[in-house]
Amino acid sequence: MSAASTGGPRERRMFDPAAPLADAEIVVGVGGGIAAYKACELVRLFTKAGARVQVIMTKRATKFVGPLTFQALTGRMVFHDLFSLTQESEIGHIQVADRADLVVIAPATANVIARLAAGIADDALTAVCLATRSPVLLAPSMNVNMWQHPITQANLRRLVDVAGTFVVGPGDGFLACRWTGPGRLAEPADIAEAACRVLAPQDLAGKRLVITAGPTFEPLDPVRFLGNRSSGKMGYALAAAAARRGAAVTLVAGPTALPDPVGLDVVHVEDARAMEAALATHAWGADGVIMAAAIADFRPGTPSEKKLKRTEIGLAPVISLDANPDLLGGLGAERARRGSGPLLVGFAAETHDVVGYARAKLAAKQVDLMVANDVTAPDAGFAVDTNRVVLVEPGGDRELPLASKREVAHRILDRVVELLAARV
Ligand code: PMT
Repeated sequence: MSAASTGGPRERRMFDPAAPLADAEIVVGVGGGIAAYKACELVRLFTKAGARVQVIMTKRATKFVGPLTFQALTGRMVFHDLFSLTQESEIGHIQVADRADLVVIAPATANVIARLAAGIADDALTAVCLATRSPVLLAPSMNVNMWQHPITQANLRRLVDVAGTFVVGPGDGFLACRWTGPGRLAEPADIAEAACRVLAPQDLAGKRLVITAGPTFEPLDPVRFLGNRSSGKMGYALAAAAARRGAAVTLVAGPTALPDPVGLDVVHVEDARAMEAALATHAWGADGVIMAAAIADFRPGTPSEKKLKRTEIGLAPVISLDANPDLLGGLGAERARRGSGPLLVGFAAETHDVVGYARAKLAAKQVDLMVANDVTAPDAGFAVDTNRVVLVEPGGDRELPLASKREVAHRILDRVVELLAARV
């Protein structure tokens, strides 16, 4: 039932957290700033993700980018004149406002922000914003002094506090006006991710999760190490997915080539003992710990402070190894000793009898869920973008189909949400 027929609150659609943009109706409002051209890329990202996009431009925005560009990208007429008989009859600001799942304004100029904060509805964009009951996400972009002006800051605070408006950015850097500082439009990919977070169900809101990712590098000397094939993709996918669902995430990451996901706390570590120290700091205040990292079980016993020379160690050197602590097992044992602690989820990377070994680790490490991972399959395990896992729990196993690591992460989190709910 639509708000138009009831006059009541608009029903919020349930979006799949793995693909919240698919089939969403998104209004992209383009303000009159030089960053307006970047809205083209944003619209492209939204349509590529399966969203239906209605672009609304302010009059000034049309001076920077032609409406035809957005019309070609969306396949829809662009709304920029509230008083055009054609646009109002074919698009209609109330219909746009009612249909929207989300309004994203990029760039949100100081002028647009001021008019929204004052409740002014004197053009197509501000009229839709005032009429809609969908969430509104602003991506501010302006000169650094305009951004830092107390009036702009007060306007923004008013929108956030009074209207529940969401904000992404601005970034810091060299601006088109040749000043340097905050005022750059957030990157289109970051705006799209912020939109996903607004639309995705917030079933992990209020929860703190610690997620480990990547390999550990155990030093042999200042240049060499003992490591493994983990790329960090699985753990990073879990961290990004949990953040999208509202969790406060601390990502404890071994050495990877991946960029830090936006909006979460990332602790970079090099070896197993540094990961142990990071867990000691963060794990006990968390609701859950998910260990996707491939932590080395052994480390070179006495790493050399200087680069080892072939001439000094000979052609067949023997490297003695010391055992690293079992971090997850340690958390499980400590939780049993304390009688309380975070939900514990481990990954078991196996090459044979995958579920059998995962079940043994579930018991030995005293954890709630083991994600069994066959690392010999070409489309699963280390470094690839897909994974195929079995969720192993005391009550039984559940096989998940082959899917992207992002999708697998969400399916694991679906279970984490249920297990967390069962604890309270
Ligand atoms: O990073 P990617 O390239 O995306 O690859 C993903 C992955 C294959 C690394 C990941 O999905 C995975 O399976 N991670 C676990 C790897 C591993 O170390 O498995 P394990 O069976 O040796 O360890 C079992 C559990 O104990 C793991 O949760 C591990 O983090 C933990 N562990 C292991 C050793 C150790 N000394 N301390 C630990 O806490």
